This record gives sequence, C-alpha cells and structure tokens, in this order.
Amino acid sequence: MTKTDTPVLHLKDASLTLNSNTGPVRILQGIDLDVQQGETLGLIGPSGSGKSSLLMVMGGLELATGGTVHALGQDLTAMNEDALARFRRQNMGVVFQSFHLIPTMTALENVATPLELAGHRDAFDRAQVELEAVGLGHRSEHFPAQLSGGEQQRVALARALAPRPSILLADEPTGNLDESNGEAIMDLLFGLRDRYGATLVMVTHAPELARRCDRVVRLRDGQIATELSTSEAAE
Ligand SMILES: Nc1ncnc2c1ncn2[C@@H]1O[C@H](COP(=O)(O)OP(=O)(O)OP(=O)(O)O)[C@@H](O)[C@H]1O
Ligand SMILES: [Mg+2]
Repeated sequence: MTKTDTPVLHLKDASLTLNSNTGPVRILQGIDLDVQQGETLGLIGPSGSGKSSLLMVMGGLELATGGTVHALGQDLTAMNEDALARFRRQNMGVVFQSFHLIPTMTALENVATPLELAGHRDAFDRAQVELEAVGLGHRSEHFPAQLSGGEQQRVALARALAPRPSILLADEPTGNLDESNGEAIMDLLFGLRDRYGATLVMVTHAPELARRCDRVVRLRDGQIATELSTSEAAE
C-alpha cells in the first residue's frame, strides 16, 4: 500500500440531525476531522456524546445531513445505497457496539460471509483461522445466541478483520472483554495497522486502548471538545 497525503477520512463541518417523534435532534455538529493512512484514532466522551453516531457517519451507515464526508477520496454523501454498500465491502470493516451478528448463521458462517462476498473460494477455511485468532476456534458451529457477549464481540471482530479492510471502524471493541482477551484483541487490531497499513478509528472507554492510539478526540454534546495527545487521554 502506498502512502498518500490525502487523508483516508476527511470530514468537513459534518453534522447529523435526525427526526424523532419530538422533532429534530441535533446529534453531531461542526465536525472537522482528518484521519491519515495508518493512523489510529480513538474517540472518547460521555454516553450520548455522539461517538457511535460519528463512527456511523464515517462509514456512510448514517449519511451526514450537513457538511461533507470523504473516505479514500470519495464523497460518501454523494453515493447511493448500493455504491455505499459496495464501497464498504471493498474497503471497510465495521464492528458495531451491539455486534449485529446474523442470528441464523453460525459463528463460522458469520465470519465467512464477507469473505464469500469478496469472492474468496476458501472463505470457510479462512474464517476458521480468523476465529482461532480471536480464541474461538472451538465455537465455530455455535449460533450467536449460544455465545456470551464477549464471544459475540470477538466473532464480530473476526468478521470485520477477515477481509483485511483498509479502514476499520470499531465501536468499543474491547467493551465486553476481560483483560487478557482485551489485550489479545488490541494486538489483532493494531496488527491490522502494522501489517497492512490499515487506518483504525475506535470508540473506547478503555484507557489502555486510548493510550495505544496515535491521537484521541473527545466528543461532548455532538461536537469535538478536545484533541488530546494519548498520554493526556489515558489519565
Ligand atoms: N435514531 C435516533 N434518533 C434520535 N436520536 C438519536 C438517534 N440515535 C442516537 N440518538 C441520540 O444521539 C445522541 C448520540 O448517540 P450515540 O449513540 O452516538 O452516543 P454515544 O456517544 O455512542 O453513547 P454511548 O457511550 O452510550 O454508546 C444520543 O443523545 C442519542 O439519544
Ligand atoms: Mg455508542
């Protein structure tokens, strides 16, 4: 992968306003943010401050209602649903806060699906290796409902990491894990950056994870409150 000066993610005055039954809710406003290739960015901030929403906007899973959002030089706000889905399939891995595993598929099938969509003939063999990497080789035939929260989280991580995306967006990826599993997962996440030059954006409450990020942005009330060096963020 060659390095370029164009940021991998470029948000300019991005905002998100959603309609609810009580009227419009301003969820994000005035977000200016660039993330460079190979950079790891941590997103922190109190509950409800907009961390998950910002991650969704970066992935085109929520379309910004104002401003612009570019990923790999492409304007996500100008793409239709199909183009966005294709773009994500080719370039992005997303780990949702609530995992979003497909309940009718086994762990193995969940991880193999994006590999199959990407045309890998050995999708199931690769998926098994990915599950082993998150310590779940022995759970491959289990359905999500038969797995603990931390195990589901690890399956979701395996699924996101398996296609080696150039951008990984992860919402509290170690949120349900004990210390040793959390560390193993952090090593896998940072390994994607170290080995493949991927760009990582991670929402986290964990100081250990924030400390390992190159840069940390703190949100408050849907706005960027501060940009911190990682040593400050970990305090
Ligand atoms: N579909 C929606 N309609 C209206 N308001 C919403 C919607 N989705 C999220 N919100 C509101 O947007 C705000 C930001 O939510 P978000 O999920 O991004 O917060 P967060 O920082 O990820 O919080 P947490 O740490 O609890 O996960 C919250 O006040 C939430 O209630
Ligand atoms: Mg959230």
